[in-house]
Amino acid sequence: MSLVVNDLSVRYGRKLVLDTLSLDAQRGHITAIVGPNGSGKSTLIKAVCGDLPYDGSIRLNGLDISRAEPWQLAALRGVLPQASVLAFPFHVIEVVRIGLQAGSGAEHDGRAETALARVGLLGDAHRYYQELSGGEQQRVQLARVLAQVWEPVSDEGPRWLMLDEPVSSLDVAHQMQVMDIARDFAVNGGGVLAVMHDLNLTALYADRMVVMSKGSVKASGVPQDVMTDAVLSEAYGCALQVNMPPAGTTPYILPHAATS
Ligand SMILES: Nc1ncnc2c1ncn2[C@@H]1O[C@H](COP(=O)(O)OP(=O)(O)OP(=O)(O)O)[C@@H](O)[C@H]1O
Ligand SMILES: [Mg+2]
Repeated sequence: MSLVVNDLSVRYGRKLVLDTLSLDAQRGHITAIVGPNGSGKSTLIKAVCGDLPYDGSIRLNGLDISRAEPWQLAALRGVLPQASVLAFPFHVIEVVRIGLQAGSGAEHDGRAETALARVGLLGDAHRYYQELSGGEQQRVQLARVLAQVWEPVSDEGPRWLMLDEPVSSLDVAHQMQVMDIARDFAVNGGGVLAVMHDLNLTALYADRMVVMSKGSVKASGVPQDVMTDAVLSEAYGCALQVNMPPAGTTPYILPHAATS
């Protein structure tokens, strides 16, 4: 049971944004997608979630995404988009309950509250979403996704979290809280695909990673293999140095300041 993407191409108008891209991701893993702005990461997430037309093949737990019904997809995966705009003044708890309606759990009392508690915002349940800080709003959106997918494994197999920059607005403690939630989900049998910009957090949490550049996969594998000076510097177009702490196994990445 996995995500298998083969020869995926996506166009916006005449512009080719993903070019015959192939990758796979397994249940039990956090698979991180990294790469520069505009490399196609969000487009990839949207395509694997069934939100964009594409050429090629995307199978999630064996299900052909292009033929899946919306209810099948909603039962299988939850999506945290890179940006979420709400036009109306919803209470926080109402935003989380949108996830219940999307999934199959509307009948479960307390699920939205539990999801909010997991992101540390139960005390804000009856505040207006629009009055929350950017990072708090991002955590509410994650709670909405958690309320939807709930258990990492259903009778039909693993469920999936598709997270587009889930920690981009978060302080360091909440970054780790959210990545711990993702890791728990994977450890308990679900699958996680997460777009990340923080390479150090990726080194710490990702089981596998995929480096994208210009709509293609440049490297993929375990972070220890993929995170090399050459791969990262070429993908990002700047000098990056991958270091290993003396007694550690998790690399850390530093940018090189130009010296002249
Ligand atoms: N709706 C759209 N219409 C036309 N072009 C688009 C659209 N959405 C994205 N693009 C273009 O497709 C390319 C890939 O965009 P995408 O959002 O997938 O990048 P990304 O890797 O997620 O970048 P970031 O790190 O900035 O979020 C970019 O060149 C972008 O300008
Ligand atoms: Mg993006």
